[in-house]
Amino acid sequence: MSETISRRRFLVLGGAAAGAIALGGAGYAATWAPEVGSPRTRMGAGMSKVLVVYGTGSGCTIGVARQIGTTLSERGATVEVVAATAAPVPAGYDAVIVGSGVRAGNWHGPVKSWVTANATALKGVPVAFFTACLTLATDPSKRDEVRAYTDPVIKESGVEPVDIGLFAGWNEPKKFSFIERTILKMMKSPEGDFRDFGAIGAWAAETAPKLGLA
Ligand SMILES: Cc1cc2nc3c(=O)[nH]c(=O)nc-3n(C[C@H](O)[C@H](O)[C@H](O)COP(=O)(O)O)c2cc1C
Repeated sequence: MSETISRRRFLVLGGAAAGAIALGGAGYAATWAPEVGSPRTRMGAGMSKVLVVYGTGSGCTIGVARQIGTTLSERGATVEVVAATAAPVPAGYDAVIVGSGVRAGNWHGPVKSWVTANATALKGVPVAFFTACLTLATDPSKRDEVRAYTDPVIKESGVEPVDIGLFAGWNEPKKFSFIERTILKMMKSPEGDFRDFGAIGAWAAETAPKLGLA
């Protein structure tokens, strides 16, 4: 019962936040998350080319995307880690990994739109998804609930990922807007950076063969 209530509260409060943020202007994130302003990183110099695309509000998911990129580049790939808002073109890559943080049970709009807009190309290469969120920081058993955050993306785009990485994100109040901070406080979300970079790297290494990488 309490689980149902807490999930509903996330959705209701998060939905209210999304509306307030939209009213506040699209450029809000960069104000308190300066790392959001560096949308493209290149790693490694291997034969296979991998594109890692991310959606973020606070910058948390950039770190997750970069860890995936680091692991794959250490395994011999050339990896480009690019924000969905920078509209990367998936042509020419051997594999693509797409991930996002979550607001009210949803991936960020720009990354969802990017997958749909590039669906034809993405259906021609192996693709993996990943999600970074707080549900797994508070209750690691809720993997099915977190996996379902990508259902609308799969349904809308028709892109079928070979795997979906599920990771705990952060609640670093200084990285969120006042409204977001307030919502997380009302939800009594624990504060901290819950990203487990070892687990993120391990997932990237395990998923590499499914993506046709060494
Ligand atoms: C307004 C708001 C709504 C959120 N909604 C959810 C949610 O529905 N489920 C969840 O697991 N995490 C939720 N989170 C937690 C974020 O997904 C988490 O903090 C993540 O690390 C943020 O990464 P990003 O800023 O890179 O997107 C929410 C956070 C905020 C601020």
